[in-house]
Amino acid sequence: MAMGKVLGLAVVGILTALLVERVMVFRSKFNASREVEPVDLPNCHLIKGIEAGSEDIDILPNGLAFISSGLKYPWLKSFAPDKPGEIFLMDLNDRNPRAMELRISRGFDLTSFNPHGISTFIDKDDSVYLFVVNHPELKSTVEVFKFVEEDNSLVHLKTIRHERLSSVNDIVALGPDRFYATNDNYFSDRILRFLEMFLGLTWSNVVYYSPTEVKEVVSGFYSSNGINISPDRKHVYIADLLAHNIHVMEKHANWSLTQLKVLELDTLVDNLAVDPYTGDIWAGCHPNGMKLFFYDPENPPGSEVLLIQNILSEKPTVTTVYAENGSVLQGSSVAAVYSGKLLIGTVFHRALYCPL
Ligand SMILES: *[C@@H]1O[C@H](CO)[C@@H](O)[C@H](O)[C@H]1NC(C)=O
Repeated sequence: MAMGKVLGLAVVGILTALLVERVMVFRSKFNASREVEPVDLPNCHLIKGIEAGSEDIDILPNGLAFISSGLKYPWLKSFAPDKPGEIFLMDLNDRNPRAMELRISRGFDLTSFNPHGISTFIDKDDSVYLFVVNHPELKSTVEVFKFVEEDNSLVHLKTIRHERLSSVNDIVALGPDRFYATNDNYFSDRILRFLEMFLGLTWSNVVYYSPTEVKEVVSGFYSSNGINISPDRKHVYIADLLAHNIHVMEKHANWSLTQLKVLELDTLVDNLAVDPYTGDIWAGCHPNGMKLFFYDPENPPGSEVLLIQNILSEKPTVTTVYAENGSVLQGSSVAAVYSGKLLIGTVFHRALYCPL
């Protein structure tokens, strides 16, 4: 009898210890106790017309910026839950750039448009393709559009669905019909996603997609998020949001990826933009994931922008260009530059324009 009680107590003790350990690891993965040290940039202003997110931004080498807006996603706040998403365009060559909503061609279901990560590709004939991760009814598809600059529109070319593209967060286009995509979770269900994150499973991956071949190219992430490619197209950068790092991968002729190094940071790294002229990486980051995923307007998530230079060298330079506690900009998910102008986007809040 006494033996049974001792055993029972031991089991309860062990389970409690395991749970406490999990909660502590979870809190550290979400950087729960981190507060931002402000780093200010003068002369920034919020962009008019963007009120419900600007999760990803991709800027063409000629200064035209595409912005995805209106994301609805498990565990994330939305300020416009009933409004479809949009793609905005901004010409950063203008003295006072404005965000303009791009028209989307007929034959595409706009009512369920829920854009997430985006990526542009310029073809040999100068055609511009825009790849958009979409979550109609919270499923994952990749939409391919052709950008028609003359009438500021996007012509929908196709919808890509695949069982390996199950929980897509971001993509990087590799050609007019191929890309790498990150699956940020193994599960797409809200509760299972929470368990996956809580248990710290590393089941998140990166997939190569082409019309003839679809394959997992790397796995083992807590939550693979932003993905981008170097200007010489030899290296691929993958942000692991919950591991607080960026993986530098070498790309091979058969599209496989091998890891060269991992850059550790003290923040939840979201999308990555690569300056096509310098190769510098700009990272939109979440200083505190608890504030992002468990939204409280009284204590909102802050914003943080990192500039990473010479990532392939022994000692890459990491500079905090902007950091703020959420009183101006909540939940920065991306930062991208063109000719001394910085755009900072957010998961569900507004967007900021900063001359550097
Ligand atoms: C955020 O920073 C601003 C400006 O530095 C300050 O006025 C405000 O009290 C801070 N808010 C919080 C919640 O710490």
